[in-house]
Amino acid sequence: MLLRKFIAILSFFAPRVVSTKKPEYQHLPPLREQAKIQDSWRQERLDSVPALLEKHGVDAWLLSQKEYAEDTAFWSMKQAVQFSARRRTTYIFFAEHLVESKNCTFQSWIDITPAVWTELEHVLEACNPKSIVVDTDPQIAFASGLHAGERDLIVGQLGPYWADKLVNKPIVPVEYIGTMPKSRLGWYRKIMETAWAIIDEGFSEKVITPGKTTTEDVEWWMRDKIQALNYTTWFQPAVSILGPQTVIGPPNTPGARPIAYGDLLHVDFGVTAMGLNTDTQHLAYVLPPGDKEKDIPQGIIDGLKAGNRLQDLTRANMKIGLSGNEILKNILDNVHAEGLEGQIYSHPIGDWGHAAGTLIGMAFLQDGVTVLGDLPLLKNMWYSVELYAEHYVPEKNATLNFFLEEDVYWHDEKESWEWVYGRQERFHLIKPKEKKGLFRIQG
Ligand SMILES: *[C@@H]1O[C@H](CO)[C@@H](O)[C@H](O)[C@H]1NC(C)=O
Ligand SMILES: *[C@@H]1O[C@H](CO)[C@@H](O)[C@H](O)[C@H]1NC(C)=O
Ligand SMILES: *[C@@H]1O[C@H](CO)[C@@H](O)[C@H](O)[C@H]1NC(C)=O
Repeated sequence: MLLRKFIAILSFFAPRVVSTKKPEYQHLPPLREQAKIQDSWRQERLDSVPALLEKHGVDAWLLSQKEYAEDTAFWSMKQAVQFSARRRTTYIFFAEHLVESKNCTFQSWIDITPAVWTELEHVLEACNPKSIVVDTDPQIAFASGLHAGERDLIVGQLGPYWADKLVNKPIVPVEYIGTMPKSRLGWYRKIMETAWAIIDEGFSEKVITPGKTTTEDVEWWMRDKIQALNYTTWFQPAVSILGPQTVIGPPNTPGARPIAYGDLLHVDFGVTAMGLNTDTQHLAYVLPPGDKEKDIPQGIIDGLKAGNRLQDLTRANMKIGLSGNEILKNILDNVHAEGLEGQIYSHPIGDWGHAAGTLIGMAFLQDGVTVLGDLPLLKNMWYSVELYAEHYVPEKNATLNFFLEEDVYWHDEKESWEWVYGRQERFHLIKPKEKKGLFRIQG
């Protein structure tokens, strides 16, 4: 296995710095303990709302929803033991200056009767907000969670005076959902380590027998492993055999040939636990009998290096305050200036696999992404640095795409984006099975 081998090699030849250790499965605490941890994160986030509203120059944020027709932002506000909104669930938050001057604290109702509207109106009269954010954005999912019927009802019940003060301010829900409390990082790192450990074992001779195991077999092994660890996931793992022009997207066609010696393998893999999601893409090489890591074709090694360089250029260009589209252009300018080729499609991650915040490219949208790419990059978020380097491999007389993905978090002191767990710099290796019989003479 790659990383175990790694450490052994490191101690002998002490080559360039590698930050990763062999990943271990991280077991989750009992559910009651998980709920306590998650609710402490929730409280931190709810407490941040008045300052968030103040920062964006709005006075209030109103969310209202019914059971099974929740606002998208609800999922980032709920307690661990809430599985949906109940009846009609209505929340109102106020900006800091109204909290301080008029004691306008957060209020919530669970009430299916019209009484909620009378009470809400009293609160509005007492606090007198000049603007009330509602999540009605036409384009951004995380800012469009107010259902149309609910909006009509609010407008009808509150009347024109308050209806006039309703505003669409997408950055409010986007920043709320996208911002990750620092206290989450410890568990996120552990959950990420588990994701790496599953890839590490899945991409090894323990799971793959060349000539027999298919990519689908590895995918389902991964699903079962996730379940055995009491984790879940947010997408079906996708394992592929990379060839010329491989485009990652739809799952493998059933009945594809088994994995063979000399194959370059790819996985797109994520896990979910404690309300957090990960997203990782790694590469593996199937060693033919008699070959060692040093026998991997140089063109393939160079392809991974090119991918690593694209990762560095992406991280370095992720400047706070620039839009995703500006960042994308800067990255691609750097990539091309170095004579490299590839695509960048990096996205926020956290509460959702594809979370709230600006997009830095999308696959096949390398000139920018409308609306979502125009948002500014915010700090204190997590991003999935997702991309591929296009690299000609002479040994295969073909140009291959080297797909890589690793998650980063914002490091306040260093003012940079750092790997949550690490990044792949060497291939996972599927080693030929040892012919145990040969060694029996010793015993
Ligand atoms: C402020 O409002 C909260 C909630 O409505 C209430 O419990 C609290 O007593 C109020 N504090 C003051 C100082 O009025
Ligand atoms: C999964 O959960 C079950 C039931 O709570 C527990 O017995 C088991 O030890 C857990 N497994 C792991 C790997 O955490
Ligand atoms: C390499 O590939 C190109 C284009 O697919 C082909 O024209 C050429 O003959 C190949 N070269 C060798 C040595 O196979």
